[in-house]
Amino acid sequence: MKISDCEIIDLPKIEDSRGNLTFIEGNSHVPFDIRRVYYLYDVPGGAERGGHAHKGLSQLIIAMSGSFDVVLDDGTLKRRFHLNRSYQGLYVCPMIWRELDNFSSGSVCMVLASNTYDEADYYRDYNQYIEATF
Ligand code: TYD
Repeated sequence: MKISDCEIIDLPKIEDSRGNLTFIEGNSHVPFDIRRVYYLYDVPGGAERGGHAHKGLSQLIIAMSGSFDVVLDDGTLKRRFHLNRSYQGLYVCPMIWRELDNFSSGSVCMVLASNTYDEADYYRDYNQYIEATF
C-alpha cells in the first residue's frame, strides 16, 4: 500500500440557502463498509495526534470544523494534506503511517473506519512498521 493509494475524496454536497448538506454512504462514497465513527475535538494548540499505522483498517478523515494537517508516510514517500472542508475526506488505506498536527482552535476531526477498535491492528512503533513494510 502506497501514498498514491490515498486520496482526497469529494463528497456529495447539496447546496441550499438554508445551509449545505453532505452525506456519506459506505461502499459508495468511501471504498469500504463503515463500521465505526470517532472524532477528535478540544485539541489543545500545538498538539499532535496519530503516530501509528494500521495493519488492515481503512479510514476516511474529515475536518468537520476548522482545519488540521495529516502527514502520510508509506516508508518511501511522505505527503502533507491540509484538510479544511467538511465536504472532502482523506482516504487512508491500510499500512500507511499517519500523523495529525496544525489543529486550528475549535477544530473537529471525524474519522470513518472500516472496522471496530482493535489495538492489535496498530503499529505504534515506526521501526516495526518499516520492518513490516519492506
Ligand atoms: P489513538 O488511535 O492512538 O488516537 P489518535 O490516533 O487519534 O492519536 O487512540 C487513543 C486512545 O483511544 C487509545 O488508548 C485507544 C483509544 N481508542 C478507543 O478506545 N477506541 C477507538 O475507536 C479509538 C480510535 C481509540
